[in-house]
Amino acid sequence: MIVAASAVAGVNHPGNALSIVTEVAPDQRERMLASASFRFHHGLNGHSSMSLTEIRKLLEQMLAERRFDQVFYKTGASMRNARNSDPESAEDVIKVMENLNTAGAWLRLTRVDEVTSQFNDIVEQFYEELSDLYQQDIKARTLKTFVTLFISSPRAYTNYHLDHTWNFLLQISGRKTVHLYDPSDPQVLTQSDKEGWYMQEPMISPRAHEKDIVYDLDPGDGVHHPVNAPHWVQNGPEVSISLSLGLCLHSSNRDAKVYQANYVLRKLGFDPTPPRRSEMRDSMKVRFISLWSDRNPKTFEQVVYSGATRLKRIMRIGQQHREQV
Ligand SMILES: [Fe+2]
Repeated sequence: MIVAASAVAGVNHPGNALSIVTEVAPDQRERMLASASFRFHHGLNGHSSMSLTEIRKLLEQMLAERRFDQVFYKTGASMRNARNSDPESAEDVIKVMENLNTAGAWLRLTRVDEVTSQFNDIVEQFYEELSDLYQQDIKARTLKTFVTLFISSPRAYTNYHLDHTWNFLLQISGRKTVHLYDPSDPQVLTQSDKEGWYMQEPMISPRAHEKDIVYDLDPGDGVHHPVNAPHWVQNGPEVSISLSLGLCLHSSNRDAKVYQANYVLRKLGFDPTPPRRSEMRDSMKVRFISLWSDRNPKTFEQVVYSGATRLKRIMRIGQQHREQV
């Protein structure tokens, strides 16, 4: 286990009325420039849209508008019980929200900027600040930013997993410990792991538990997760509210297609070249997967997974046919 250095004085990005990333300490800035995970401070503590009262109103609105696919929740210790809400469970979800101190609950409200405009300013400001930090037009690099609220009971935890997004987790209230792993370390994640993950195969298990970098977050702290960085999260002794700003980057969508093509190549017995080593090979692989992808994707899932889903179906049919012959 590596304990991440806590932030020290050294404001690199002065705040303003709605400043989000307010401080990246020099040692963390070095990690940022190396595309590693890093800690930062944020200025959204006490934001009026993220009190428990306002979140409850937001949840009621989401359920009333039948946005069941945007409300994901679990009760009890195991993530096995986690599921999307539906018309039958709407009342239970409200009860979970009312009994957070005792419910052993974990609640995820996703794409909340589509429900209320209160988060739009946050996203626009966030693009500006990230563009300053990275000296690039981050909005132009982004297909969509997922604005997600996590509300969880004392000691609730999230299982080891990885995400497709370039993620910034902001702790709003309560405390939380994030265990993050380096996605470019082959002892943590192999090429084959990533290929399988982009083909939506069952989730991989941790390979190198001791290689986690530990970020203890208090309100006002944030942590950046690089794309595909495996992580698991443990809540502190109070109810926790966190905001996640997850950017779905065009470059990550392209890499996803390369991983998907590599999955097929590996099944055929090749040892494929990972993404970003050969522009020519990457282009051919992206074109191949795009042939199978939705022409006019409406959702993020269709952008990233529609080609892979079709290919998998065909590979399954081919397999069944070979077994019958
Ligand atoms: Fe995650």
